[in-house]
Amino acid sequence: MTDVRKPILAALKGEACTHPPFWLMRQAGRYLPEYRELRAKAGSFLDLCYNPAFAVEVTLQPIRRYGMDAAILFSDILVVPHALGQPLTFQEGEGPKLDPVRSPADLNRLSKANFHAHLEPVYETVRRLRGALPPEVTLIGFAGAPWTIACYMVEGGGSKEYAAVKGFAYRDPAGFGQLINLLVEVTADYLCTQIDAGAEVVQLFDSWAGVLPAGAFRRWVIEPTRRIVALVKARHPDVPVIGFPRAAGLLYEDYVADSGVDAVGLDTTVPPVWAARTLQPRLPVQGNLDPIMLAVGGDALRRAATEILEAFSGRPFIFNLGHGVIQTTPPEHVAELSRLLKAWPDVA
Ligand code: CP3
Repeated sequence: MTDVRKPILAALKGEACTHPPFWLMRQAGRYLPEYRELRAKAGSFLDLCYNPAFAVEVTLQPIRRYGMDAAILFSDILVVPHALGQPLTFQEGEGPKLDPVRSPADLNRLSKANFHAHLEPVYETVRRLRGALPPEVTLIGFAGAPWTIACYMVEGGGSKEYAAVKGFAYRDPAGFGQLINLLVEVTADYLCTQIDAGAEVVQLFDSWAGVLPAGAFRRWVIEPTRRIVALVKARHPDVPVIGFPRAAGLLYEDYVADSGVDAVGLDTTVPPVWAARTLQPRLPVQGNLDPIMLAVGGDALRRAATEILEAFSGRPFIFNLGHGVIQTTPPEHVAELSRLLKAWPDVA
């Protein structure tokens, strides 16, 4: 073990850093010309995810340009249902398409038999990344949280109203619980295997946490997350788990109190001053610049970033966006943000 300081790990262990460390959700992706070039060479998006040489390169692209404090494994949350045998494609401009899981027969077709073999290229990407990253850069592994994965599995893709998945959960909680139980088990195992391969932190993306009312949120967001955190901690007690229950609103407080996560990702709508007073005394927070501000750039970007820094700095904090970088973001704006963060607090 080397003794190099890793600012992200320090923040996650509860240290306040002089300049807050940062990384950005979807920091690798289509806004970068070098990503688009490699993506074209790979063929499909999934071919890129399952090719370790390409996935390593794409993970490193934003680190080289901007010097983020963390690299996030390049993959997708939907490789988990894919590894359970659910057919998955990404159609250009349309997002993911899966054969929906709606009946007990559909559920029975899912299988763990080939799970780790299917995901071996992801583990190989993690192993290679640990060797390739500068020593001060933290490697983040990730998975989708069970509720969000179930949304895609049951809807068969993105959705406006989530009527199919919510309908399943409300009508047949026992049957839906079987799907969630399967996802809890394989997701914990997937994260532990990423950690065995070299991931130093893991993040659980619960992108659709915000569509559930309070009772269902406790049952299908907090409870499965709590079980995954407990399973990961049993094997890797020292590896921090970041939870991102996007759009949880007032339920962020319950999530922080009861899920067991070590740090929480704040979405764009969470007021920084509220979160600094209510959540940050309990655990490190991560967030939450509006990705559209990053696309806009200039003074608006500087003001918005400064407001977040003023609210959270001096206590454990990782600067990030409130959701992923959007495709139309000019790469120069990310450079601007990176310069501002590295100079903070001197440029305020
Ligand atoms: O840089 C990183 O953050 C790491 C890679 C990463 C991707 N997806 C790459 C990706 C991560 C962590 C994700 C997570 C993910 N995937 C989430 C959770 C975060 C969130 O955005 O809420 C979700 C919901 C997905 C599912 C998914 N993947 C959708 C809905 C789409 C289509 C939308 C789109 O932007 O096209 C994807 C595709 C995807 N995942 C791309 C990338 C870079 C674009 C694919 C391409 O190159 O064509």
